[in-house]
Amino acid sequence: RMVVVRAEGGAGINPDIRKTEDKVVDAVVVTELAKPLTAYCRCWRSGTFPLCDGSHVKHNKATGDNVGPLLLKKQ
Ligand code: FES
Repeated sequence: RMVVVRAEGGAGINPDIRKTEDKVVDAVVVTELAKPLTAYCRCWRSGTFPLCDGSHVKHNKATGDNVGPLLLKKQ
């Protein structure tokens, strides 16, 4: 079953998760990564999806939302 989420009327894509934060960013520490940091998109607006290209900044400004990437950090 497919669920379609629309960000019309300034509602944003995030209805109620950690809304007191300016931007919701989570990090997962992984020991076997080729690069020191990889950001995965969670706003569904990246031109390089599934990787984050910073498009969440424009989305957050336009909608008042607070979405941000999932960061994978090499330790
Ligand atoms: Fe989607 Fe950064 S572009 S979270």
